[in-house]
Amino acid sequence: MPETMPVRALWFGDGGLHLIDQRKLPGQRQVLHLSRVEQVAEAIRTLTVRGAPAIGVAAAYGMVLAARQPHQSPEKAARLLRSTRPTAYDLFVGIETVRKAWAAGEDPLEAADGYRARIVEECHQIGAAGAPLFRRRPRVLTHCNAGALATVEWGTSMAPLRVAWERGVPIFVWVDETRPLLQGSRLTAWELQQEKIPYAVIVDNAAGYFMASGQVDAVIVGADRIARNGDFANKIGTYEKAVVAKENGIPFYVAAPWSTFDPRRPNGASIPVEERNAAEVLRIGGRPLAPSRSAARNPAFDVTPGRFVTAYVTPAGVVAPGRVGEFASRHRTDLTGTA
Ligand code: MRU
Repeated sequence: MPETMPVRALWFGDGGLHLIDQRKLPGQRQVLHLSRVEQVAEAIRTLTVRGAPAIGVAAAYGMVLAARQPHQSPEKAARLLRSTRPTAYDLFVGIETVRKAWAAGEDPLEAADGYRARIVEECHQIGAAGAPLFRRRPRVLTHCNAGALATVEWGTSMAPLRVAWERGVPIFVWVDETRPLLQGSRLTAWELQQEKIPYAVIVDNAAGYFMASGQVDAVIVGADRIARNGDFANKIGTYEKAVVAKENGIPFYVAAPWSTFDPRRPNGASIPVEERNAAEVLRIGGRPLAPSRSAARNPAFDVTPGRFVTAYVTPAGVVAPGRVGEFASRHRTDLTGTA
């Protein structure tokens, strides 16, 4: 892929799935070519590809590869891919979209291509819907990475900022570094640099300081799963940012495509939260950060109650928390997942 093209996290071609190895960024832009469903499952598990919409699309193409392998079936491949990460609803929607097509004798590649196109289109719609929110609020804080790398192209939380920037709004982004895996400093900062949008990386603990001192006009984040009442899971630390934003009277927005809205979860208490290996907390780049044999806990996500959200930015427009479940069920037509 030429250096000048807009960022694309993954694409299908030459009989396999190409994806940018997100573990290597920003130091190296390395593209992997995967030809087996087992490799796709491993790439999702290890965060080689990550971000809720992107893992949904990667898994959809994983199903395509499985359909071309011997000794595979729609159920077996779906089971493997579903076991990779529990929180992002998009993963289950991507798998189910292709599983159904394959089981019905339709072309799995056509189903996966259609799913990818739909996600990218919804990100563009989110950008157009959300951009006006930032016209008079250009200093924006974000957590984790919900840009092109997390969504295949364009982004969810990043999309309104990109559109506003293109329209001449002097956007400035506060980028939480996002411990332990640094999706903010490694990936969001990298994307913003490609776009030439001004930003500053801050340690996660500094967000409250910048909010309380009047240097943040708005917060926008993505989501991994949104329950019917508007409670949502996102990268660990999101909950704290939402509480501090409310305390300081700063609007807090959540941007997501329909594949993130889970119609079967009434509230956040029922959202499964992934706990990852403690080594991600205790070591960085192979170097120890704590005495050997230290215990650690590593929840990858937290759940923020809907009452902390000012509005959700969806492909069909901006919607207030009280109405979000009903709004989503009206607009998300044929998407289903099984987890
Ligand atoms: O563990 P990750 O990097 O997959 O977590 C990603 C996030 O928490 C994103 O904010 C979320 O998936 C939304 S991506 C549009």
